[in-house]
Amino acid sequence: MNLINKVVLITGGAKRVGKAMTHAFAARGCKLVVHYHTSHHEAEQTILELRAAGHDAIAVQADVTQEAEVERMVETAVARFGRIDVLVNNAAVFFRTPIDTLSVEEWEQMLDVNLTGTFLCAQKIGPRMREWGWGHIINIADIAGQRPWADYIPYSVSKACVLTLTQGLALELAPEVMVNAILPGPVLFQDDTPEPVRQREIEKTLVERAGTPEEVAALVVFVAESEYSTGGLFHVDGGRALA
Ligand SMILES: NC(=O)c1ccc[n+]([C@@H]2O[C@H](COP(=O)([O-])OP(=O)(O)OC[C@H]3O[C@@H](n4cnc5c(N)ncnc54)[C@H](OP(=O)(O)O)[C@@H]3O)[C@@H](O)[C@H]2O)c1
Repeated sequence: MNLINKVVLITGGAKRVGKAMTHAFAARGCKLVVHYHTSHHEAEQTILELRAAGHDAIAVQADVTQEAEVERMVETAVARFGRIDVLVNNAAVFFRTPIDTLSVEEWEQMLDVNLTGTFLCAQKIGPRMREWGWGHIINIADIAGQRPWADYIPYSVSKACVLTLTQGLALELAPEVMVNAILPGPVLFQDDTPEPVRQREIEKTLVERAGTPEEVAALVVFVAESEYSTGGLFHVDGGRALA
């Protein structure tokens, strides 16, 4: 599928890995809806960069855990571009949650953003894609969704649920809408990740390095270009899942 002029909505598309996806789709000639939650400045900056390069793009703010805000985001995008062809559910939270100190609030936040947020965006956009006759939903999961990490149970559970959600959506939204998941390995560490932890994670990859946001973005674009992939789980992890 040629993606020129396709409308792509990327949640959390203003910074880090999401921003690389934004630029990768823009390079394919897509129109961009750059969603953000709190990163207003980064979203403005991203829109300036896109428009300076001649791309059509808007920024939309929403908390993906709030149904009314997701509805407003979708209406804003459709009012501007008429449709949404590709939805990338990239927004997520990630933090350490050892079971001894894990609070119910932390558990709920992780599931609310990573799972309910992904579900709400897919629910508000997927059935409309079916009416429009074509669409791709790409959920950004994590290898932790297949092999959970100690001290990160809520995150791992949320991403495991995203994998099941992906395949359920693929069944329900077929044949018009294809739904796939991407499972990155270590790509961009959080700023406060200690150096020994980074090194340990890198050593567990088969290619002996962290990935880049651009490598994740390249796989997302590849999947969006596919006309025959749905319900798929695509790794971009340097072989980390095998370690
Ligand atoms: N980084 C990695 O190495 C890695 C590895 C494996 C998987 N992944 C997955 O890849 C994706 C991108 O990773 P990342 O590290 O770039 O993500 P990130 O920086 O941790 O988060 C991405 C965005 O999620 C948005 N977000 C958080 N809570 C939200 C809410 N309630 N409503 C709406 N948006 C919200 C934030 O938007 P604002 O900044 O605007 O608030 C943030 O920019 C995530 O799904 C992550 O789980 C990443």
